[in-house]
Amino acid sequence: MNGRKRIVALISGSGSNMEALAVACERGEIQASVVAVLADRDCSGLELAAARAIPTGRVEPKHFESREVWSEALRDAVMVHEPDLVVSAGFMRILSPVFVDAFAGRLINLHPALLPAFPGAHAVRDALAAGVRVTGSTVHFVDHLVDHGPIIMQVPVAVEPDDSEETLHERIKEAEHRMLVDACKMFIEGRVHLDAGRVLIER
Ligand code: GRF
Repeated sequence: MNGRKRIVALISGSGSNMEALAVACERGEIQASVVAVLADRDCSGLELAAARAIPTGRVEPKHFESREVWSEALRDAVMVHEPDLVVSAGFMRILSPVFVDAFAGRLINLHPALLPAFPGAHAVRDALAAGVRVTGSTVHFVDHLVDHGPIIMQVPVAVEPDDSEETLHERIKEAEHRMLVDACKMFIEGRVHLDAGRVLIER
């Protein structure tokens, strides 16, 4: 583990993206380790992490008097792991400035749409309702706005005529697993640079 960069993942659900990232780290495709997986609720992704011997934790808003105090607790829970990169991968809570500022330049989010289209918690449903032919997924740095911040990578996914929210989201997830691994690999290799609010990628 010495010299390896440290990734902390935040999840709320099935954790398939976190797992794709952990597998890429284990295979040596990314010179980093997923050192902790934290969630805001009990969810099946925590079991996936535990099965890979990754330390897990829960920081649940209901145990805190306010969103602000919860955000500070989450920040501290992440901070103890000294992350080089924090990945919000299906984390279904808005991260407040006290959290975002603590990890400026090393906090990224995965969103199942081609931002700035369809921000919010129902991106796949909203894309279907709008009748777009192409949607996809975005990895971006997190700023103080929801599903907003400098875009690192995007992947397009075609919408099929008979798609349901579930079938479309399944295909988006397949595409975003690869994209998230690629984006994290580039970040860990120091090839992702912020320049005047835009991302430059060193090839
Ligand atoms: C992904 O589609 C991600 O883009 C979105 O939530 C989903 C999480 O899936 N934010 P999983 O928990 O990684 O399986």
